[in-house]
Amino acid sequence: MNAAENPVCPALEVNGICRNFGGVVALRDVSFAVSAGEVVGLIGPNGAGKSTLFEIVSGNLPPSAGRISYFGTDFTAMPTHLRRREGMCRTFQKVRLFESMSVADNIRVAASQCVPEGRDVREEVAAILAQLRLEAQAQRRPAELTLADRKRVEIGRAIAGNCRLLMLDESLSGLTHEEAEHLISEILVLNRVRGITEQCDQAAAPGRKMGLIDHRVPENGFGSADEVGDIEPTQTPIINASHRF
Ligand SMILES: Nc1ncnc2c1ncn2[C@@H]1O[C@H](COP(=O)(O)OP(=O)(O)OP(=O)(O)O)[C@@H](O)[C@H]1O
Ligand SMILES: [Mg+2]
Repeated sequence: MNAAENPVCPALEVNGICRNFGGVVALRDVSFAVSAGEVVGLIGPNGAGKSTLFEIVSGNLPPSAGRISYFGTDFTAMPTHLRRREGMCRTFQKVRLFESMSVADNIRVAASQCVPEGRDVREEVAAILAQLRLEAQAQRRPAELTLADRKRVEIGRAIAGNCRLLMLDESLSGLTHEEAEHLISEILVLNRVRGITEQCDQAAAPGRKMGLIDHRVPENGFGSADEVGDIEPTQTPIINASHRF
């Protein structure tokens, strides 16, 4: 099944999403839209429901109510693996890698599942290693890497093959200020460069770019790519209450 190609539709549209865990209301009537190419942040205190939202958008959890649209197509009930095949990609709050494999093989496994027909997996792995500055680590095991590089490998795995929307759950947490600054600038480069790369795909439409979601954003919960580096943590809960942005 193909995602709709209507460029007028947002990359992601979340409408009236609710999720309860027993008596716990994790998400209540959350609605927002992300345009193609936008870099959008998501903030909220611990337990606000950020990861739950990512679980629902990526298909790991069903919502109790509400609807998810992806480039204009209703993806609410779409199986997780088909979402990924359509380029809806994510990382996890706790980094998940194949610890017995090299960095390159970690990325290769993901690329081989998701690379569109006609695209070379080796070239895709090489491109991702270069874009994430992981070439020198390619043959190392994840346990030998810094946390920042482990997070890079996870991002590489997330985007390998086909990525149109990337959801980053706490990709900067645990990093030093300098490491976070580097990763932010790499994420912003990926947003531009991978978008351009996708234009070269047979499946890609002109002007397509990658959308990003991450927690660290300016105080109103949204920001342009340029502002992502200036984010200060805020205590404003934006998810746990009924919220439209
Ligand atoms: N599988 C689950 N079962 C029961 N309750 C859950 C489950 N997952 C999340 N919750 C609850 O839902 C609420 C939202 O949790 P969630 O992990 O989404 O928050 P978060 O914003 O990602 O927090 P953090 O900043 O700590 O990562 C919390 O009260 C949490 O305890
Ligand atoms: Mg979380």
